[in-house]
Amino acid sequence: MKKKVLAALMAMTMLALTACGSAAAPAAPAAGGSDAGAAAATSAGGKKVAVAMPTQSSERWMHDGANMKAQLEELGYTVDLQYAEDDVQAQVSQIENMIAAGANCLVIAAIDSDALVNVEQQAKDAGIPVIAYDRLLMNTDAVSYYATFDNKGVGTKIGEYIVKNCGATKDDPKTIELFMGSPDDNNAHMLYAGLMEQIQPLLDEGALICKSGQLAFEDNNTLRWDQQTAMKRCEDLLTRYYADEDLDICACAYDGLSYGCMSALEGAGYTEANWPMITGQDAELMATKHIISGKQTMSIYKDTRLLASKCVTMVQAVLEGSEPEINDTEQYNNGKIVVPSYLCEPVPVDKNNYKEVIIGGGYYTEEQLAE
Ligand code: BGC
Repeated sequence: MKKKVLAALMAMTMLALTACGSAAAPAAPAAGGSDAGAAAATSAGGKKVAVAMPTQSSERWMHDGANMKAQLEELGYTVDLQYAEDDVQAQVSQIENMIAAGANCLVIAAIDSDALVNVEQQAKDAGIPVIAYDRLLMNTDAVSYYATFDNKGVGTKIGEYIVKNCGATKDDPKTIELFMGSPDDNNAHMLYAGLMEQIQPLLDEGALICKSGQLAFEDNNTLRWDQQTAMKRCEDLLTRYYADEDLDICACAYDGLSYGCMSALEGAGYTEANWPMITGQDAELMATKHIISGKQTMSIYKDTRLLASKCVTMVQAVLEGSEPEINDTEQYNNGKIVVPSYLCEPVPVDKNNYKEVIIGGGYYTEEQLAE
């Protein structure tokens, strides 16, 4: 299994490099430093970019790390890529070590961004620019740029999908439960806001019914986006509120949460006949296979190759004095400053468009999806 994941990542890295116009680039390893890129250094001059990623337990972050490393090395930077396995303190220590080891620039995808405020200040004091990767770094003025997807847009698209496809009306209402992301991740709050904006009118008119009443984010969030936590909460909801009536919609904010709900639903005896609509985010390989088999209804495809390439332009900007492309200077107020951002577009995928979007986009091959 591990071998397959690695092979898939290598294939994606190659595709990413090709997409960036460097057909002759070598395949990059999934993690660790390398001198190969430095040998080809041009303007980068062997400068060191440290990349702090949250966890290897979710496929998307593996892709993000591999893409960042490959694209930075291609430009001649030396890369120190580290994962903290969702351990907040481990990420703090990693970043401290990156600073001590002489990083010229820090790229951070935070686990709990509030825990990083001090270490970001240390970076600022040492004159090391910081770039926020995918997740906004909160309550700091040490961050120069933010590369992400339109996070509210992710919620909007999940909500629009539910409204359009679930068939709920006042006369034929559907039941829904929400499984949202981690409260220490700004993205989770934005997604929730986008989702609620779409489904609130249906909740108000009684076309959608949340039997648990757990519609507030503080009641339906999932610390660290953890699959087991989502599974247990879903089990609990099914037992307490859905003994006599089926749950029709699991509005999940991430594929990992969808897997948790699927286990709970299977355990509670749900079958193809009463299987609910299940949403997700990231279009992981497993989730895309589930979309094909009908177990998961949709996901949000985020092209991590594109995100990495936008982030790399920000690294170049802070290290070489160039201008990165920015398309949002309003939405991402981190409590201290409004961070200049580039928002990539999230794309909803389901069984009707996965071939065009995911296979056509070179993200997974037909063979990978058939395995
Ligand atoms: C990312 C999502 C991801 C989630 C869990 C969020 O910050 O934006 O793409 O699904 O974290 O890893």
